[in-house]
Amino acid sequence: MSEEIDGRGWPLLDWAPAPAPEVVARGIRSAGGRVTFACFMEMALTHPAVGYYTQARSPLGAAGDFITVPQRVPFFNRVLGRLLAELLGGAAALPTAGGEARLVEVGAGEGHMAAGLLDFFEDEAPALKEILRCQLVEPGSYLREAQRARLAQAQSRSWRVEWPQVGQSPASGHDARAELLPPGGPGVVVTNELLDALPVHLLHVGDEVPLEAWVQLQEGESGPEVAVVWREPCAAASAELQAVLEQTGRPDPRSLSRDGFIELRPAVGDFLEGAARRLGAGFVVTIDYGAWRGHPYSAASTEARPADAWTDGREPADTQAGTCRPQLHELTLRGYFRHERRFDPLSHAGRQDLTADVDFAALDFHGRRLGFQTLLFLDLASFLAAGGAATEADRLRSLVGGEDALEVDASASLLEALLDPADVGGLFKVMVQVREEADL
Ligand SMILES: C[S@@+](CC[C@H](N)C(=O)[O-])C[C@H]1O[C@@H](n2cnc3c(N)ncnc32)[C@H](O)[C@@H]1O
Repeated sequence: MSEEIDGRGWPLLDWAPAPAPEVVARGIRSAGGRVTFACFMEMALTHPAVGYYTQARSPLGAAGDFITVPQRVPFFNRVLGRLLAELLGGAAALPTAGGEARLVEVGAGEGHMAAGLLDFFEDEAPALKEILRCQLVEPGSYLREAQRARLAQAQSRSWRVEWPQVGQSPASGHDARAELLPPGGPGVVVTNELLDALPVHLLHVGDEVPLEAWVQLQEGESGPEVAVVWREPCAAASAELQAVLEQTGRPDPRSLSRDGFIELRPAVGDFLEGAARRLGAGFVVTIDYGAWRGHPYSAASTEARPADAWTDGREPADTQAGTCRPQLHELTLRGYFRHERRFDPLSHAGRQDLTADVDFAALDFHGRRLGFQTLLFLDLASFLAAGGAATEADRLRSLVGGEDALEVDASASLLEALLDPADVGGLFKVMVQVREEADL
């Protein structure tokens, strides 16, 4: 059965064998010659020696592979700041908080969001300075140093900013999950474009027996190569599949997917488990691209998707009438290299970004299991509109005739795209989960 899939490839994805960097090859050998694709993705992104995010250059910006909203749209940081100020006030009031408000940003890139948030707090919520402890978690020293440089000004204005040590996983040296968050009391964990980088397990569920994509070493013409083979799912993927089947009430995995393939994210559960352990009570705020996809995670929880208090009940674009239906799974794994999409996930390990859309239903699914409630889920367009972004776009447009006309024009166009539910504003989502119990 697996031989039929081997070599057949994945619709849209090119599984051609690719040269393995020595460190990745060593990692695969030490795991017995084969690792899951999820483990390969984790190594390719965050291995301390060769990881895409841990190397001595920034992947962000015009010279990198992508740009992010906090980096390009300061107004976004201010709208988010207003929400976070409220949540931090709530967390600090909890009896276990000792009057402290802890804000943990995981995967803070070059520190644009944290710096923007502290600027906003300086202007609009200065009382937070007495109680706020801002902690940034970042696997790579290059990006950590970029964050230190960007946050120096806030520190000089007496905002408390820390870079705590976090645990390490055997696969990558950096565990994005259970050990990722620093110990401490209640607070708010916030991420922008982190969860799409957490490892996905790729399963074929189109036949009677589910199979997982594994990456193994083979001898190529010029040294060791990585190649995909389809084998029995690993323990983590099997447990996740089982939990999903129980949750959705569909005993047959074949019913989960249109094309026979699914992406499973036990790492999202590990991440939330870390948040529950490290915060006890508090909030998790997730901003990322993706959707409340429906299958494989949410035949049941699609109906449980929360109403959006910030949008007067208006539905986010992907769940508006007519499109609100459980979607069968579709492939979202892809790479980015110099702002171009790529579909050859094995090639250029450590040099191309690997990412898969976040299934917000998976966040809700794991959250409920761990005592979180989903408070808010909406698209970025609605979030920004509720924060007054249309007025800001008009303000920017009114400046277009001035000195920095080109830059202002670009900023106004970007903000307009973020306000458009049919554009980037609909692709990105904002989700807030709350946990009230102090213990896991
Ligand atoms: C796409 S960048 C986003 C950066 C920043 N949040 C922003 O919006 O500009 C992804 C960030 O997540 C970090 N990251 C990726 N995988 C991670 C992991 N497993 N654990 C912790 N951070 C990770 C990267 O180093 C990087 O800082």
